[in-house]
Amino acid sequence: MIAPRFLPAVKSCRCAYHSFSDFSIARAPSKYPPSLKILGEHHLTDEFTNVTPAILSKVDLELHTQDGHPLSTLRSIIESHYPDFSHHSSLSPIVSPWKNFDELSFPWDHPGRSMTDSYYINKSLMLRTHTSAHEIEVFRKGEDKWLLTADVYRRDEIDASHYPVFHQMEGARLYSADASGMEEVKEDNERLSQHLERSNIVIEDIPHISPTNPVQPTHDPAHSELIAKNLKLSLNSLLLRLFGSANSEEPLRVRWIEAYFPFTSPSFEVEVFFRGKWLEILGCGVVIDSTLDTANVQGKIGWAFGLGLERIAMILYSIPDIRLFWSTDARFLSQFEAGKITTFKPYSKYPSCYKDVSFWNPEGAPLHDNDFCDLVRDVAGDLVEDVKMIDSFVHPKSNRSSLCYRINYRSMDRSLSNEEINELQKNVVSRLTDTFGVEIR
Ligand code: PHE
Repeated sequence: MIAPRFLPAVKSCRCAYHSFSDFSIARAPSKYPPSLKILGEHHLTDEFTNVTPAILSKVDLELHTQDGHPLSTLRSIIESHYPDFSHHSSLSPIVSPWKNFDELSFPWDHPGRSMTDSYYINKSLMLRTHTSAHEIEVFRKGEDKWLLTADVYRRDEIDASHYPVFHQMEGARLYSADASGMEEVKEDNERLSQHLERSNIVIEDIPHISPTNPVQPTHDPAHSELIAKNLKLSLNSLLLRLFGSANSEEPLRVRWIEAYFPFTSPSFEVEVFFRGKWLEILGCGVVIDSTLDTANVQGKIGWAFGLGLERIAMILYSIPDIRLFWSTDARFLSQFEAGKITTFKPYSKYPSCYKDVSFWNPEGAPLHDNDFCDLVRDVAGDLVEDVKMIDSFVHPKSNRSSLCYRINYRSMDRSLSNEEINELQKNVVSRLTDTFGVEIR
């Protein structure tokens, strides 16, 4: 199952459900020094540490603030669509699991917490898995309208649209939960509805509230309806701004779907019809009261959304491979101008070369897909295009399980020599045996 990267871990988790017991079987992919220096600070390592050098090399890059980079242009276009919102773009990716999960009401057994899905520096620090991790601190500052852009980290498979680091943009808006606040919402809804009525957009909507997507017990249902409507109108108008011209003759088609997030209710996902396919673009909902209580915000009601920037940028710029966002090759970077969306012109694609590795999985401590992907990413960096499990079976007599993975190597910028690829593959194999104790077949 391949799911979009920016959705909640409970839905985007592409593996079978991981329970807390996975913490015991997920092992560190390599041996760690007693401490790691990350963003200028030393952090002790422990049995939870699973960040890799390949991942740590990304934490200070902040592609979303590099002038002219497609992700930065997309950020600024979205920011300009919300002119009276404040902007945050430089919050540290290092957060506590408490802040990433608990404060946002994630249940203790939520799969996103597992070491197979998230990157831990140690037991008490991790790399944020979503921009929602900062909701409470921004609300606590008393901000009612804000946008926040950041790099987020999730252990995942490797292919053209999945990369373990990507960028999200969080947006939120709060109103006073009283008659005057609701008047303000109504006026805003009126303004947005009129704008959308005049536009070439077809929206498949669902009820704002339903038994399966309920109003919060502390909310007046009429208020929650107005806020959910405001959220939908506001996002429909953003999507029109982003995708409207790309689909010029055809109307833009948007559909709303019921969703679940631990920190919003009602909750929604939004899909956009683009080049013959429905694409999931974002998750959103009415902020739960306990989030606002924790942030010390009283008497307010509002919404939040989180969207994945790479997904949208790949569509708008026709960028075919998510690794390209990390390219420092002038043939990539020089194509883009700050503030402008232009179609990416692919430069010659260098040949790919695949190598297979088959091994017996150690009994009692099986290797997780994400362990394998991280190991490969760590050895080969962006020279790995994708990794697929191509075979798995259990030996009928010995009951041992065997896996075979195919690693596809390709550079975006040059031809790889056979020797180089063989060397990479040799390193993958030796790391597999040294770190995970597998037996190569
Ligand atoms: N943080 C959620 C995710 O990463 C998206 C989201 C943001 C949902 C805000 C609701 C409100 O999938």
